[in-house]
This record gives sequence, C-alpha cells and structure tokens, in this order.
Amino acid sequence: MINKIEAIREEVNAVKAEIPAKVEEFRIKYLSKKGILASLMEEFRTVPADQKRELGQKLNQLKNFVTERYNILKENAAGTSAIDVSSIDLTRSATSFPVGARHPISIVRNDIIRIFSDMGFTVAEGPEIEDDWHVFSSLNFPADHPARDMQDTFFITRNPIDVLLRTHTSSVQTRTMEKNQPPIRIVCPGRVYRNEAISARAHCFFHQIEGLYIDKNVSFADLRQVLLNFARQMFGPETKIRLRPSYFPFTEPSAEMDISCDICGGKGCPFCKETGWVEILGCGMVDPNVLKACGIDPEVYSGYAFGLGIERITNLKYKVKDLRMFSENDVRFLAEFESAR
Ligand code: PHE
Repeated sequence: MINKIEAIREEVNAVKAEIPAKVEEFRIKYLSKKGILASLMEEFRTVPADQKRELGQKLNQLKNFVTERYNILKENAAGTSAIDVSSIDLTRSATSFPVGARHPISIVRNDIIRIFSDMGFTVAEGPEIEDDWHVFSSLNFPADHPARDMQDTFFITRNPIDVLLRTHTSSVQTRTMEKNQPPIRIVCPGRVYRNEAISARAHCFFHQIEGLYIDKNVSFADLRQVLLNFARQMFGPETKIRLRPSYFPFTEPSAEMDISCDICGGKGCPFCKETGWVEILGCGMVDPNVLKACGIDPEVYSGYAFGLGIERITNLKYKVKDLRMFSENDVRFLAEFESAR
C-alpha cells in the first residue's frame, strides 16, 4: 500500500489541468466519493493494526497533497475559457480573410435591372448555347448575313442543325414571344460570345441586357421615353439622349442611342472624341416579320426592343480602360469596387 500511495502522489504531481473542465475531471478521479482516495481509505480499514499508524499518516499526507494540488489547479484554471486549448489550431493565420466584393459587371447589371423593373419590366433568361433559329432566323437575319459567318460566331455543330454560342441576348426575345402572348415586358441579361480577337477594346465574350415590350399601340415615343428615363437614372438627371438612325435585321425603324458625355457635359473632349456624345445602345421597333415568326399577330400588336452592352455602361460609369480587366479577376482591380455596393 505504501508503494501505491507513492505512485498516486507522483501521478497527481504530474497532472496538468489548464481549464476548469479538466480540473473537475481531476477532482472526480481523486477526491470524489468513488474516487481513488476514497477507495484507499476503504483499503486502509483492512490493514493489520500494527501498520495502521504509519499508513494512516501517509494516507493523510497524500490526502492533503491531493487537496492542495486541486486548489492550485482550480485557481490557475479560473478565468480561462471553457474551450480545450488543444483543439485550437495555432497554425491558422491571425488576420481575418478579406470579404469579397461584387464584380463591377454584376453591380452595373443589377443597377440596370433595378431601373427597368421599376418601370414594370421582369427578368427573363435563356440558354447561352443556342440554335440558328433563335439567334438568327427568327430575328429576320437573311441566310447569307455576315454575322452567321464563322468569323463572327462560335459554332458548336453545323448541318443539319447549327448549334452555336449566342452572339446576342435577342435570342431570349424569340424564346419569350414563342411561349407568351402580349403584353410582354422583359429585360434579358446574359453573357454573349463573338469570335473577336481579344484586345483592350474587344473580347470574345461580354454581357448584354436586352429589353422587349410588346403590346397594343406601342410606339417609338414610348421607347424613347423609357430609354431617356433609364439614361437619367443611370448617368444623372442632366443626361441628354440622342437617337441616330441605324440598321438591325430585327427592328424597323432602328436606331442607336447616344448619351451626352458626362466628362465634358457635352462640350467635347478626348473621351467623346470631341463630339459631346457617347454611344450606349441599339434599339428599334420590332420588325413585323419577327412578331410573325414568333406567333404574334403584327396587325394587332407592336413593340420595341433595345440591347445594351453591360461592359460599355460599366466603362462609362467607372472609366475602366481595358475590357480584359473584367475577366482577369485580379483582386486588386475587383477590390476597387468594394465601396460601390
Ligand atoms: N442585338 C443587338 C446587338 O447585339 C442589339 C439590339 C437589340 C438592337 C435590340 C436593337 C434591338 O447589337
């Protein structure tokens, strides 16, 4: 029994208990009713009377020692957290990770959607991998139109069916008109692809938002008013717009819209090439052939469409000089927009 007492003493001496939970474990193991000391006391009863004196002393000393150890451990652990330190990963970096920022294209896309949804437009989406019908034929592109050329369009398969990456979001117009009867009032944001050499000013993919409104008695004046409202909300209440005649196979008449240059206020500067105007979108009245192709009666309904490039609007708002920055995803560039939202 003497040896046992010695062994327990050494064991207790070596115990480390840094946190309250461990100290409690120590107490239960040694000092509780069913603990080691209690069972030694039990054993003590059976020792021969001539050894009782010496063993009794040793046992008392052990008890005092263990109680003292317990008090010291308890005091040291007080105030430490309840978490077991051994479970804390000391290799983790002490600095917190930076919070991500929204991509500038997403910021501007969301702004555009918000402006148009305030005017009653809902969001429609369509696939990026399309067929010839939805991207070209239904939109009144003649069979020999140069946009169909391998140079402009990424084809996935050709003949018998042409499968391709959509070159514009106008394909979502067709898809929506095929499935719904007017009134239709949608904006279609999405990524589009064109077979262009990548440079500061052109990329093989970019983002567009298409707008479409079909109803009875929709006029060019309605289109102009909606676009003016958009331009003022996007670029400020002083913004002026100008519509220049243009050509798209799917609209007639067609126009391109410029806004007054917000750098020089319309006086002329290098940014607007001294014209005072910068082009921002294409638009027009939906061609009756397109309505017919999509199962809508052009005798009853009319409508307008417009399409704008999100990168273009973002460039105008944030003066990004190189289109490639939008897809390189350099965090130093993206962090610049953290405060934008
Ligand atoms: N789809 C045209 C383009 O990609 C833009 C546009 C849309 C023009 C709708 C007129 C009407 O250039």
